[in-house]
Amino acid sequence: MTSINYSERIPNNVDLSENRRLQRALESWLPNYLSWWDELGPEGTSAYDVYLRTAIDVSSDGWAHFDYVKMPEYRWGIFLAEPVPDRRIGFGDHKGEPVWQDVPGEYRASLRRLIVTQGDTEPASVEQQRLLGLTAPSLYDLRNLFQINVEEGRHLWAMVYLLHAHFGRDGREEAEAMLERHSGDPDRPRILGAFNEPTPDWLTMFMFAFFTDRDGKYQLASLAESAFDPLARTCQFMLTEEAHHMFVGESGVMRIVKRTCEIMDEIGSEEPERVRAAGGIDLQTMQRWINFHYSVSLDLFGQELSTNAANYYTQSLKGRFHESRIDDDHRLVDSTMWIPMLDGEEIVEREQPALNAVNEKLRQDYIDDCQRGLNRWNKVLEKHGYQFRFALPHRGFHRAIGQFADVRVSPEGNVVGEAEWTRHADTWLPTESDRQFVRSLMKPCYEVGKIAGWIAPPTRGIHGNPFAFDYVRFN
Ligand SMILES: [Fe+2]
Ligand SMILES: [Fe+2]
Repeated sequence: MTSINYSERIPNNVDLSENRRLQRALESWLPNYLSWWDELGPEGTSAYDVYLRTAIDVSSDGWAHFDYVKMPEYRWGIFLAEPVPDRRIGFGDHKGEPVWQDVPGEYRASLRRLIVTQGDTEPASVEQQRLLGLTAPSLYDLRNLFQINVEEGRHLWAMVYLLHAHFGRDGREEAEAMLERHSGDPDRPRILGAFNEPTPDWLTMFMFAFFTDRDGKYQLASLAESAFDPLARTCQFMLTEEAHHMFVGESGVMRIVKRTCEIMDEIGSEEPERVRAAGGIDLQTMQRWINFHYSVSLDLFGQELSTNAANYYTQSLKGRFHESRIDDDHRLVDSTMWIPMLDGEEIVEREQPALNAVNEKLRQDYIDDCQRGLNRWNKVLEKHGYQFRFALPHRGFHRAIGQFADVRVSPEGNVVGEAEWTRHADTWLPTESDRQFVRSLMKPCYEVGKIAGWIAPPTRGIHGNPFAFDYVRFN
């Protein structure tokens, strides 16, 4: 079951050839996908040979194969994690019953919506990143970008497969629409806000991969709990790919922090202006990027109190992060959770039914995970003997969704008036001149073993290769 059949046009481990109708439907979606990739995927890269990993097995030991591939020839495929024998539903009203291999009629609309919302983010990020290949700081980074891009493309395939296989005509229409909405398109934007923000520079890229791909991890992990087994298994396997995206984000930012520390050592100053003059990205600018990407990513978790989320949970469609490791009834009948809420000008903790706060629980798990990453960045500062520390802003800061959307909250968590917000906005969020400065550093550095001056090289290369390796061959 786990081995992947590569002799077929669409590699898969779902016995696609046994279902001719489905196979034909997906094969006819393939050319549309390829023309989307050509038009909105990484710009001007179709002839490049890229040292990529391709999934060859979904088991945890050694699932990937590394070799040079032209991206339009990447074997996008359909890979589900191995089935768990006699898997039982872990939460909600159906807890304890066998998982479903088909979509129950009464949950069809909800499941479709969950799958479409997840699926829409995958091609969106490829669109957002399409120009980054023109300015990568090294071949290593360029290759990592392309690896993420092809895997996000594959994640779209994963969701499109579910739509085609389980949702009939509506599913096929939704699959088409995935290629018709575009990131930042004023008429047909992507569904979620953070996926309509451009990714114009590599600081943004690394922050996006750290903060926004991490939202993906938490969404996928809660869908991996679903009673609808094909969705659960698809998401389970996507999570293994997603881990690499977050690694790229976290290590990318860490390498910038390291380089900035080296520059501050060299010039004997932490003055942002002097750091910039020496070709580095100052820590204050990085903090503003953190504030921005963290806050727009928090929005992706939705309302603090949500009947939709409660319904998904009760219906056993979408669970919590690591549901089985939580010690409770997994139905949330009487349980409560303390959540920060707005009370006039004050932010207070209120006890709420845990069932309605499922989004907030996932957001809290995400926040804790982000903090762990920041701690690792701060270790670099500590090691270099600097006092500066990165901090996550308050969860109410710069929010567009949920109860904090209508007020201004400072990074420290105080509700502030419009005047005070305006006075500080330049120090709290990236300004146009910050963005211009960061863009001015973005020059491609494509000589083997070389790297741009604003970022440190990685401690090791990919798949046992050194950093000085031709990870991308331009043809
Ligand atoms: Fe993804
Ligand atoms: Fe990702």
